[in-house]
Amino acid sequence: MKKIENLECKNLIGEEVILFGFVDSVRDHGKIIFFDLRDRSGIVQIVVDQTSKDFELAKKIKSEFVLKIKGKVRERPPHLINPDLETGKVEVVADSIEILSQAEVLPFDVSTTGYEIDEALRLKYRYLDLRRRRLQKNLIKRHKVLLFFRNYLSSRGFIEIETPILTKSTPEGARDFLVPSRLFPGKFYALPQSPQQYKQLLMVAGFERYFQIARCLRDEDPRGDRQPEFTQLDMEMSYVTRDDVLDFIEEMFIEMVETLYPEKKITYKPFPRISYEEAIRIYGSDKPDLRKDPNNPNELAFAFIIDFPMFEWKETENRWDAVHHPFTQPKLPDGRKDKEELLRALETSPEILLSEQYDFVCNGYEIGGGSIRTTDPEILIKVFETMGNKREDIIKKFGHLLQAFSFGVPPHGGIAPGIDRIMMILENEPNIREVIAFPKTGEGRDLMMEIPSEVEEEQLKELKIKVEKEEN
Ligand code: AMO
Repeated sequence: MKKIENLECKNLIGEEVILFGFVDSVRDHGKIIFFDLRDRSGIVQIVVDQTSKDFELAKKIKSEFVLKIKGKVRERPPHLINPDLETGKVEVVADSIEILSQAEVLPFDVSTTGYEIDEALRLKYRYLDLRRRRLQKNLIKRHKVLLFFRNYLSSRGFIEIETPILTKSTPEGARDFLVPSRLFPGKFYALPQSPQQYKQLLMVAGFERYFQIARCLRDEDPRGDRQPEFTQLDMEMSYVTRDDVLDFIEEMFIEMVETLYPEKKITYKPFPRISYEEAIRIYGSDKPDLRKDPNNPNELAFAFIIDFPMFEWKETENRWDAVHHPFTQPKLPDGRKDKEELLRALETSPEILLSEQYDFVCNGYEIGGGSIRTTDPEILIKVFETMGNKREDIIKKFGHLLQAFSFGVPPHGGIAPGIDRIMMILENEPNIREVIAFPKTGEGRDLMMEIPSEVEEEQLKELKIKVEKEEN
């Protein structure tokens, strides 16, 4: 007798099989009981009649019980075929049934899409919510997309390298999550907003092509396409130009879509490369939705936005800030490579400077960002100064990078597609929470684990931390 997945039943008529799974639904007709058994592969109908030694036991079975079934696959008579089920032409006549686990009544139905259920309730019982077919499919598809990228990059000489989670503040434009140090009271690690500095240091180390399926943490208010923790397909390459990076990404994404989503149509091949100025002028957005028919769920309008301004004026802080991040290479508006003139412009007219930043957009979302980096320490220091940093602070915060660049640095650049947003678009989901196993709510809470939460007084003492009580 063979232990098989439900879906395999359709090709095993006449065979004795062993099945495991959840009870999706029960139909008790008195002398005969039907139930749908659900496993990861799908649903198959189980029949228990009075000839089964476990008929009485079957009477006690309810939805979501976990079962082991031994039985024989048989063809259904033509009028009982269920065309909605992949296994609809067969059923399994149960010979023996074992209840592996009973189940209380679930707080909601898991046989629907789930969109109709209050999301707070779904998130509180996320492990049940994840039983529904839609979310199972989303996460299995996410696995396949990540596996595709991993194999693709690996076969093209990229090395997957993990970088620290306990690290130092890196400016990506959001607030850091901080972790207090027990061994150095009063000092903190920052969780990485991205592996940006580490991946550049890996280029200094000579790895040439790096990637990582990287967790990034940013303390910003979550929204439909933003979570405090999310995943990037983080990449960096030595000896590349902007167009090398964009050509590579374009080829990889076309192959991914053609392999895993053959039903989707890519609107423009090659992907248009539109300057920031043109995007704003023509579409009024730096992440334009270029679909020909926005109602078509299978259209993917990929594009790259290039030639961003290097700086934007931050009114609240009364200073220039990098549009991408400070490690991006600035360039003169006419593209000339004149270091003296660049240094002068950084000092006197930062507003005229463009940068080697590129954004990757699809259907109105920014799904990736990257740049060719500044590897000249003098220019990098000047960029930080333009952003209002004092030289001694620059050395304190970024001395390690500046020093690294003084020991020989290959020119390099990279990009980081955001996996959650990409999966949201590919799966036609309304927000990224639907493609993340355990997402946070709009307030950054996990309703299942009930976090953020208080910690033991003892833990705070060890960290020498006093919590100020909010006055009511
Ligand atoms: P950037 O900050 O543009 O670049 O991020 C790259 C991509 O990550 C995704 N993303 C997010 N997804 C979900 N929730 C968030 N809070 C969130 N923030 C960003 C987006 C975005 O395009 N280190 C650079 C990359 C580089 O220069 O190589 C970086 O992180 O899809």
